[in-house]
Amino acid sequence: MSSQTRHLEEAGLTRLWRWSERFTVGWLAQVDSTNTALKALAQAGAPDGFCLGADEQTAGRGQYGRTWHSPAGEGLYCSLLFRPPCLTSDQLHHVTTFAGLMVHDTLARFVGTPARLAVKEPNDVFLDRRKVAGILVEADWQGGVLRFVIVGIGVNIGQVSFQEGLRQPATSLHLALGEAAPPREAVLDALLNAFQDHWDAFLADPAGVVAVRRQDICFLPSTFHDRQERPY
Ligand code: BTN
Repeated sequence: MSSQTRHLEEAGLTRLWRWSERFTVGWLAQVDSTNTALKALAQAGAPDGFCLGADEQTAGRGQYGRTWHSPAGEGLYCSLLFRPPCLTSDQLHHVTTFAGLMVHDTLARFVGTPARLAVKEPNDVFLDRRKVAGILVEADWQGGVLRFVIVGIGVNIGQVSFQEGLRQPATSLHLALGEAAPPREAVLDALLNAFQDHWDAFLADPAGVVAVRRQDICFLPSTFHDRQERPY
C-alpha cells in the first residue's frame, strides 16, 4: 500500500475499483455525506478523478444548507474529485451548470424522450417537471489557488414516495420509468462516461462548452428567491 492510497484503505470502503484511466471509484455502505467525506480524502491526498459513493447518507447536503434525504439503496449518492490546474473563481459556477448537463446526458440515455428532461439552474435536473437529481459543487482554495473541486450528485432512483413539504415536487426514475428504470450501477457508469467524454473540453473552455451545450437542452429559470425555504 503506498502512502498515496493509505487514506483510501483507512476510509472503510467496501469496494475500491479502477473504473477507467481517469476515474477510480470508492464505495461506502454508509456515510454522513459523500461530499464531506471526499473533502477529507482530498485533503489527505486523494487523486484527481476519485469518485466516492455510498449506499446511504445520514446527513446528505444540498445547496444553501438544505438536507438531501438519502435513504439506503434508493438513490445514487456520489461525489467526484477534480484537481483542475487552471480554473478561476469566476469560472467555478460553470462547473455546476456543466455537471447539470452531464446528469442530463446521463438520464437521457434511459429516458426515451429527452424533452421529458430539463436542467433547472443552478443545480437541479427535472424529469416530467419534477426534481429527479441535484448537484452540490464545493471548492477548496488556498491563497487564491484552487486546490480541488468536489462535484456531489444525487439522483433519485428507487423512491416510491417522498416526504411531505418538499420545496419542489420530486420524482424518481422508478416513478417516471417503471420497470425500465435503470439500476444504480448503470446510472453511475453513464455518469462517469459523460464526465470522461467531456471534462477535458470543458476545462479548456468552460464558458464556451456550457454555452454550446445549453442550446440543445431545455433550461428552466432559477427560482433563486425561494432558497430560504423548506428542506428538500
Ligand atoms: C441540491 O439539490 O441542493 C443538491 C443535492 C446534492 C446531493 C448530493 S448526494 C451526493 C453528494 N453528497 C451530499 O451530501 N450532497 C451531494
